[in-house]
Amino acid sequence: MNTVKATLLLLACTLSLHAQKGKNDKKIKPKKEFVAELMAKMTVDEKIAQTVQYTADGTVTGPKTGINYIDEIKKGNVGSILNATGVKYTNMLQKLNLENSRLKIPLIFGYDVIHGYKTIFPITLGEAATWDLSAVELSARVAAAEAAANGVHWTFAPMVDISRDPRWGRVSEGSGEDTYLGTQLAVARVKGFQGNDLASINTVMACTKHFAAYGAAEAGRDYNTVDMSERTLREMYLPPFKATVDAGVGSFMTSFNEIAGVPATASKFLLTDILKKEWGFDGFVVTDYTAINELIPHGVAKDSAQAGELALKAGVDMDMVGGIYMKNLKKLLKEGKVTEAQINDACRRVLEAKYDLGLFENPYRYNDEKREKEVTYKKEHLDAALDVAKKSMVLLKNSNNVLPLHKEQKVAFVGPLVNDEWNIIGSWAASGDRYGYAVSVQEGVNKIITDKSKVTFDKGVEIIDSRRDMMKAALDNARKADVIVAVMGEFENMSGEAASRTDIDLPGIQKEFLSELKKLGKPVVLVLMNGRPLTLTWENENMDAILEAWFPGTMGGDAIAQTLYGLNVPSGKLPMTFPRNVGQVPIYYNHKNTGRPYLGAGDPEQKYKSRYIDVDNSPLYPFGYGLSYTKFDYSNLKLSSQTLNYSTKIKVSVDVANEGNFDGEEVVQLYIQDEVGSVTRPVKELKGFKKVFLKKGEKKTVEFEITADDLRFYNIDMKFVAEPGDFKVFIGGDSATKLQDKFVLVN
Ligand code: BGC
Repeated sequence: MNTVKATLLLLACTLSLHAQKGKNDKKIKPKKEFVAELMAKMTVDEKIAQTVQYTADGTVTGPKTGINYIDEIKKGNVGSILNATGVKYTNMLQKLNLENSRLKIPLIFGYDVIHGYKTIFPITLGEAATWDLSAVELSARVAAAEAAANGVHWTFAPMVDISRDPRWGRVSEGSGEDTYLGTQLAVARVKGFQGNDLASINTVMACTKHFAAYGAAEAGRDYNTVDMSERTLREMYLPPFKATVDAGVGSFMTSFNEIAGVPATASKFLLTDILKKEWGFDGFVVTDYTAINELIPHGVAKDSAQAGELALKAGVDMDMVGGIYMKNLKKLLKEGKVTEAQINDACRRVLEAKYDLGLFENPYRYNDEKREKEVTYKKEHLDAALDVAKKSMVLLKNSNNVLPLHKEQKVAFVGPLVNDEWNIIGSWAASGDRYGYAVSVQEGVNKIITDKSKVTFDKGVEIIDSRRDMMKAALDNARKADVIVAVMGEFENMSGEAASRTDIDLPGIQKEFLSELKKLGKPVVLVLMNGRPLTLTWENENMDAILEAWFPGTMGGDAIAQTLYGLNVPSGKLPMTFPRNVGQVPIYYNHKNTGRPYLGAGDPEQKYKSRYIDVDNSPLYPFGYGLSYTKFDYSNLKLSSQTLNYSTKIKVSVDVANEGNFDGEEVVQLYIQDEVGSVTRPVKELKGFKKVFLKKGEKKTVEFEITADDLRFYNIDMKFVAEPGDFKVFIGGDSATKLQDKFVLVN
């Protein structure tokens, strides 16, 4: 059993001890009955209050509105508060609310618990690089346990936005470019956050966001316009959302963007027709931060009343921060612009979620200071964070096996992130503490290397500013070393919300410093922390090894040090393509062929092909790519049949052998190409993956199954079907694999 699975089991056991409900719980009627009886007593104002959410002043996650949430709670005008955390604080607010709520309706507290609450795991994109569903579920479970112990009921996660554009800063919060991988990870996260029982004191309600297609913002600029065909929307962007509905997610959040002229927050097509009707979602929909207000600058509402009308009619149940529902719904009802049934539906959905969380049985269920202390930063949580961080490391290059390092080597560690406790936990790190809590690379290395004469640590340069006065000392130490390790990257806030970049090179003068290091003639290892794919063409040519560490979280320094010194064998695989330069963006592995596909340098026709004249079409590192200290060999690809019909299966098997000198894990990936369709189809699509552990010298047969269901897409009539015809199957360690076979789907 691998360590993550073992930790998951252990945690499941220890957490279930705490899962019983509190002593002070009231006995209440079944949900539907309880909520119907409560609503029968509620005035319209009280119903509207349930659709209103304000921010506390704990964390700032959006523009200021000037609304005083304390005053509003005192007026009984609030259904939910976000950004209030900690048992004491939430307890105080809940008490204030209950004293002012005629029917004693509890508040629900929401917070962005994205990759950990206090114990911070790798950023979501880094977690996606584990391709390990148990690891990701475990991370969400730990986050939920800590958040719930700190008074939080509801997390605004998982963020399931597919994105093919590394300029967009929010790729750090998502699972990357692929629909299949993103869907599996979305479900794992919902399971981890919500467990089997929302009312347990160690689970939180999840919120799938941002609905929808936010990751397709034009030119990667945050909040920008999105326009795409319904086919692409349904095939590429919606599946992770739908999968979380099927997994029982309690809430959804709208996105800021428009799609085809309609802002998502006013989109009846998305919120009612697809989400609530077609998918049968019975949870509630919250807007993103002030997204109803933003219908005015979007240009679909002339004032706040019209904005509120559009949102409610579209299917928005809760107004995050903007105060529009509070200000307008009653008036809109009087004017006949919205109906009481619409307000009732929104209110019911919110109340049912509160019921599911056990808040009517006991509004203080999550307020226990003793438990808060015990659960926060528990040893098992830190161990889990370390495990997941180790699994998220992606080895991009390793010439002459410069990695792993040996303890006897003299190593000069340099770079702005070498002794960093701030950036290492990444953006959207909830209540995660940075200084004094996060383990830096220097600290991690010092735990492994006891002979201090073997290592030096120098910053050399900053991430952004161009001061050069620290460079000399760093170069002097580097000159005396056997190997140089440069720890570099982005500031944590260069990715995440409102952090789009047009230039995705290493920022500042870091590259200049690398070229100075290179001149010393020693092997140079580059360790990267960043929230998005970077353009690393120069680094790939000039560095001896590159380790992509993302922002690896509280235990990040240990994870990196253990990987550098071979105590962890990297097994992460890229969840997003790394371009050669920013001009290739958007670049993704499951692109279409075009009518003039370019076959590469060997193509007899170089002109009039779909290509650039200044750079190859291929990426620098493809989706699914990642090396190991050991070497995996793939052979003997076999299909149990060359023919598939609508009720049979094909078994696909491949032998994977560990031919190197380390035990290690490999992510075996299966891709399929539908060669001819009634509409054009991608050159390949991920349809399965398995992570296998192989001891050195070991060989295993890895099996997959293919059914017609795996081959479905939206055909020319927008029917979701598998069309008969020829298919290719590819298997390998990344999306560029050429190992392939064929089969036919017949009627
Ligand atoms: C973000 C959401 C987040 C919300 C609340 C918004 O600015 O887009 O992802 O959940 O703020 O903090």
